[in-house]
Amino acid sequence: MCGIVGYTGGRPAQDILIEGLRRLEYRGYDSAGIAVEQGGKLEVVHRKGKVGGLAETVANLAIAGTCGIGHTRWATHGKPSERNAHPHTSCGGHIAVVHNGIIENYAELRDELASRGHEFTSDTDTEVVAHLVEEAYVDDLLQAVREAAARLVGAYALAVVCDAEPGVIVAMRKDSPLVVGQGADGAYVASDMIALIDATRDVVVLGDGEAAKLTPEGIRYFSAFGEEIYEPKVTHVDWDVDLAEKGGYPDFMLKEIHEQPRVIRDTLAGRLVDGHLAIDELDLSHEELNLIDRVYVIACGTSYHAGLIAKNLIEGWARIPTEVEVASEFRYRNPIITPSTLVVAVSQSGETADTLAAIRDARVKGAKVFGITNVVGSPVARESDGVIYTKANKEIAVASTKSFLGQVVSLTLLALLLAQSKGKLTTNQVRLLFRELADTAEQVEVILSDTAAIDEAALACKDAASALFIGRGMGAAISKEGALKLKEISYLHAEAYPAGEMKHGPIALLDDGFPVIAIATQSPVYDKLVSNLQESKARGAMVVAVATEGDEDIKQHADHVIYIPKVRDAFSAITASVPLQLFARSIAVARGCDVDQPRNLAKSVTVE
Ligand code: F6R
Repeated sequence: MCGIVGYTGGRPAQDILIEGLRRLEYRGYDSAGIAVEQGGKLEVVHRKGKVGGLAETVANLAIAGTCGIGHTRWATHGKPSERNAHPHTSCGGHIAVVHNGIIENYAELRDELASRGHEFTSDTDTEVVAHLVEEAYVDDLLQAVREAAARLVGAYALAVVCDAEPGVIVAMRKDSPLVVGQGADGAYVASDMIALIDATRDVVVLGDGEAAKLTPEGIRYFSAFGEEIYEPKVTHVDWDVDLAEKGGYPDFMLKEIHEQPRVIRDTLAGRLVDGHLAIDELDLSHEELNLIDRVYVIACGTSYHAGLIAKNLIEGWARIPTEVEVASEFRYRNPIITPSTLVVAVSQSGETADTLAAIRDARVKGAKVFGITNVVGSPVARESDGVIYTKANKEIAVASTKSFLGQVVSLTLLALLLAQSKGKLTTNQVRLLFRELADTAEQVEVILSDTAAIDEAALACKDAASALFIGRGMGAAISKEGALKLKEISYLHAEAYPAGEMKHGPIALLDDGFPVIAIATQSPVYDKLVSNLQESKARGAMVVAVATEGDEDIKQHADHVIYIPKVRDAFSAITASVPLQLFARSIAVARGCDVDQPRNLAKSVTVE
């Protein structure tokens, strides 16, 4: 949520900052800005809207300075506008600050600063930081930032420059990520590794309260207590270089949908050894796993839907009662947690504020917490007792696709591990299931190789005002993800209901041509689902069925059939989700929407 970039070195900073912001734009795209130090003065440029607009303005200015900071914003305090775009400056324009996170006590600080004569030029929480740094500054920017940060309540990742210290950037964070790296041509800081990968593959992820001082000569690191860290932990990033490019696809979302067979293969690689699940990073013995008697899966959005699928698997195979809960609810309840409770926190970004808060709460209450995330070194990874990485590689499109599939596959592995530890599945059963799970990579390839039926169904539905997704069992969970994908990228209102609930209300919506998208794959509840389709057709609905290859009967009950290869019901989420992703994307494209950057959203949600 919001992107930060900073550079100091031998090259003009403006183009480096703009390029970094383009890479980070998926984190927020309400407004953008840069501040570059030039000749002892800070040149600050803001623009409302996407980074492209800022780039045009900046190109005409050709600022030559070699040290600067930039920001692309997802509005929290203060509406999207030029006035509220970062960087924010102090009264005299001597200090410029970019910030991710939320300063919870900003109103109080603002009043206090105003009473001492500070004048504010934005409605943001961030601006107080610039004024606090200005007040604290004597002759050491690092010290001034540290003093200012001590006054802040909330979450922040900060990069600060000052006209009195040319070439210096101070970076500091708490509860919002920040990474620092030394390139051949200078030092870099960003809120996400993706902005740094052209410059360096070796980055330092700053810990909570830690700070870095970047100069053209190098980077120095400091602990939360102000002591210098001489050997910071370096994380190597081994993503593909073309990761930030569309690779011939019209948008990132389509590219990422097509990467899913690779994600399945990579997530499973090396995970079965002699018939046993090898997930050593969880660091729990089979005996300890065997003691687990309750599981909570906590997550938000799409990751929550992956949790719903996991519930079916964990309860079905391991027979452990499993609850799936939205993190923003879990954190404010008083859930029943004992030392034998396992909390599984699922987060693609590894930064989601509510999920992190839930992790902390669960650990305080004595639960063991496993994280499932896509981002190495992310807060979720660091704050969990054990972590499974989903191997999706960086996901750029705001709507999750490949990381969702990576989560589902990882959670499937966890369910198998728990079942094996509980003695509910034999080694041979695990081998068989694992083989079938691995086969889904090829099955997804088959789905991706011919999307004509999906596009045809999408065309038929694109002008609808609303759509209903239905399913039973696994299908009920899958339909929730299908509805979310559709509404978030196409703005076509969509809801998901367990098909058996139709009669209890939603069926009133149906009339001629109303789209009902049904997960109608082979499963123990297939016949029940078909009855719901009949009820829908009888009311004039236009039924789109995602069905199993070879199911000819379904054609009688649906206007459009999207066939997918036959898989065991337990793995149907992996295959059935893919056509729903493509369906949502086709509709969004047909409606002229920006599928990679839907309005009002951002890739990571680091605020509550
Ligand atoms: C939807 C989507 C979001 C995220 C949610 C949680 O496509 O991506 O619903 O799933 O914001 O984010 P993470 O997984 O990063 O915690």
